Amino acid sequence: MGTGGIAEKFVEDGQRLADFHLTAVGSRSQASAQRFAGRFHIPHAFSRYEDLVHSPDVDVIYVATPHPWHYPHTMLALSAGKAVLVEKPFAMNALQARAMISAARSQKVFLMEAMWTRFLPHVQRIRKLLSEGLLGTLMSLQADHGQSFVPDPKHRLFDPALGGGALLDLGIYPVSFASLILGKPQKISAVADFTMTGVDAQTSMIFQYASGAHAVLTTTLSASTPTQLSLTGTKARLEVATPFYVPSSFRVLSQGRPVEEYNEPYVGNGLREEAAEVIRCWREGKTESPLMPLEETLEIIETLDTVREQIGLSYPL
Ligand SMILES: NC(=O)c1ccc[n+]([C@@H]2O[C@H](COP(=O)([O-])OP(=O)(O)OC[C@H]3O[C@@H](n4cnc5c(N)ncnc54)[C@H](OP(=O)(O)O)[C@@H]3O)[C@@H](O)[C@H]2O)c1
Repeated sequence: MGTGGIAEKFVEDGQRLADFHLTAVGSRSQASAQRFAGRFHIPHAFSRYEDLVHSPDVDVIYVATPHPWHYPHTMLALSAGKAVLVEKPFAMNALQARAMISAARSQKVFLMEAMWTRFLPHVQRIRKLLSEGLLGTLMSLQADHGQSFVPDPKHRLFDPALGGGALLDLGIYPVSFASLILGKPQKISAVADFTMTGVDAQTSMIFQYASGAHAVLTTTLSASTPTQLSLTGTKARLEVATPFYVPSSFRVLSQGRPVEEYNEPYVGNGLREEAAEVIRCWREGKTESPLMPLEETLEIIETLDTVREQIGLSYPL
């Protein structure tokens, strides 16, 4: 659903999987639907999202529209009984996220947030090493995600009506990673600067956890920051190669021991694993993914809501 930038990348990567079958595309216009269908050899091209969700040839809908449409488009697909993979951020706020989760549960259909980084090999490896206690007690997580964009009031990243701003688009990567590693923060402190259009240009956050750990996270639309991630524990430190959110290698540094390097070879943009996870869950009749559970998706949106409240970021909903 939607024929924009990420939809193209998702299809390119999905088509690397033998059991990924793209049967239909839905767009707001016939021309765009046909262009996309022609490029990727898709049998059905619909000029209305309503027609896509009612197609009998479709089992799972990938919602790849701008953030404010994730809620209505997911609800549309769920109401037709289709499973849904929805782009990040899952929703504009926790109220919407709860309604989406509740609709999927009452329909008993699969729903998952497309936080693609989570399914990548290096992240799975990091999770395993942490569970084995490699770093000791985790004390600190530091991550940044900044990219330099030329301010353009009409671009979705700067337009409040399209859910613009650094936090929901880029900042969600460090926030989601912190959630994966440390859970829900107990205390949140955040500051931000705003663009002329009224969305956050730059947001910095400190999360404190019941365990005593801290996460220090930054995001910006104004500059290309290193996009690094480090996890520091009482026994060792783990540093993910930049940019941390795409397929990456990492290394572990501990006192008195040689540096350990971990490399996870990868082909593609990084979106293949999330597609594979949807197919696996679908085949097994699961209604959610154990790797990206809906309760955690909701917690992440609640965390973003708290940050937004503190920095005064609101949207015309
Ligand atoms: N996972 C990732 O790495 C990643 C990367 C980039 C973006 N994203 C997420 O994916 C979503 C889409 O981002 P994108 O960069 O692909 O955006 P985009 O290039 O602007 O494409 C969005 C598509 O949504 C459809 N759409 C429906 N209502 C729209 C509206 N009112 N205004 C504009 N487009 C509308 C359009 O397709 P039709 O005209 O064909 O209907 C458009 O091509 C965002 O929520 C973003 O956070 C994820």
